[in-house]
Amino acid sequence: MKIRRVVARRIWDSRGRPTVEVDVTNEDGTWGRGIAPAGASRGTREAVERRDGGDRFNGFDVQSALRGIEGEIAPLLLGRDVREQAAIDAALVALDGTPYKSRLGGNALVAASLAVLHAAAAHARLPLWRYLAQGRPVRLPMPQVQVFGGGAHAGRRVDVQDFMVIAIGATSFAQALEMTAEVYRCAGELMAARGSLAGVADEGGWWPDFARNEDALDLLVAAIERAKLVPGEDMAIALDIAASEFGSGGRYRLGLEQRELDSDGLAGMLVDWIAKYPIVSIEDPLAEDDEAGLAAFTRAVGKRVQVVGDDYLVTSAQRVRNAAERGACNCVLIKPNQAGTVTEAHQALLAAQEAGFRTIVSARSGETEDVAIVHLATGWDAGQLKVGSFARSERMAKWNEGVRVETGDDRPGGFAAWT
Ligand code: PGA
Ligand code: ZN
Repeated sequence: MKIRRVVARRIWDSRGRPTVEVDVTNEDGTWGRGIAPAGASRGTREAVERRDGGDRFNGFDVQSALRGIEGEIAPLLLGRDVREQAAIDAALVALDGTPYKSRLGGNALVAASLAVLHAAAAHARLPLWRYLAQGRPVRLPMPQVQVFGGGAHAGRRVDVQDFMVIAIGATSFAQALEMTAEVYRCAGELMAARGSLAGVADEGGWWPDFARNEDALDLLVAAIERAKLVPGEDMAIALDIAASEFGSGGRYRLGLEQRELDSDGLAGMLVDWIAKYPIVSIEDPLAEDDEAGLAAFTRAVGKRVQVVGDDYLVTSAQRVRNAAERGACNCVLIKPNQAGTVTEAHQALLAAQEAGFRTIVSARSGETEDVAIVHLATGWDAGQLKVGSFARSERMAKWNEGVRVETGDDRPGGFAAWT
């Protein structure tokens, strides 16, 4: 089925910033839409967003990315068979020609690549997850949901970026959301009771008005108990330290506590937290340039908790393979726009599965109503899904889509319960 029409336009993301949307229409009239999300705490090796710079919208406009789609990407796509995702993505990568997609922009490429994918599923008259599953049995992913936002998503009010929960006792996607909704609400009530309720951060988590990073952990445990759930049995804690945001060269500066730690010091603090709190997952515990630290940390706690590489692995199959060889991390975060194309993101996920890593498909802090990642997580059987908090419709759109997939007439075989 040949692609007949490609349209690109500027729309607006959850931070009110411009982003790229692409519609791809097939000769039979079926069509698909891709939208680029945007990160705020980015890895240095991820695909580069093409932005205009200058004063307009503080430099965030995407007119140059749109011109690249109209002038180069659309001519490449027109007339191609929409089902040839891998060949199309390879052609897009070659067309860009730079290591980090800086010429046409990772934002332009990922929107185009996702639009092609959606158009192919529409042509096949299948929900996207089923198109991706290609007949294999797949499961709804376990949600990883933010309760407090911090780091780059909350003006660096606290150092840790995401304080999250995982409903490890849940046996369905719907039940995981029910448990999460109660904990999120209870956390807000506890914040109100201590006089520190101050709205929400970029991904909808409560604003982290804390004096110490550990205060957020204490409150999270209290919120789980207030929701009448057992910490560590029904509900566990997951953290995204996003350490590249406050450290490099083996030095880490905890702004909130006015402390500077070396790699061992930060790792030691996290090991203490793991001993004290029901933590089952830690993302980017050390900076992206601290490979030795990441390997040492994974050796120390990798049997007990999942050690997730985000900034360090940047959704790259090659980097996942290298990390596996060095024993750094045991889980990968998959963000399609870090790679730049659907095929590269899928390759990173496959490389991780091959290496025995766990996998999490993740949204970005700048999002839209787009729900593609729910289908990627399900169709690729990733096992886990991270899309921010339990508030704001760019987040809820994803959780709600998971509910629809789970309750549809045409639904996957099961739910990726925690093991
Ligand atoms: P970002 O962060 O989307 O702001 O880059 C999300 C994350 O670090 O997981
Ligand atoms: Zn992260």
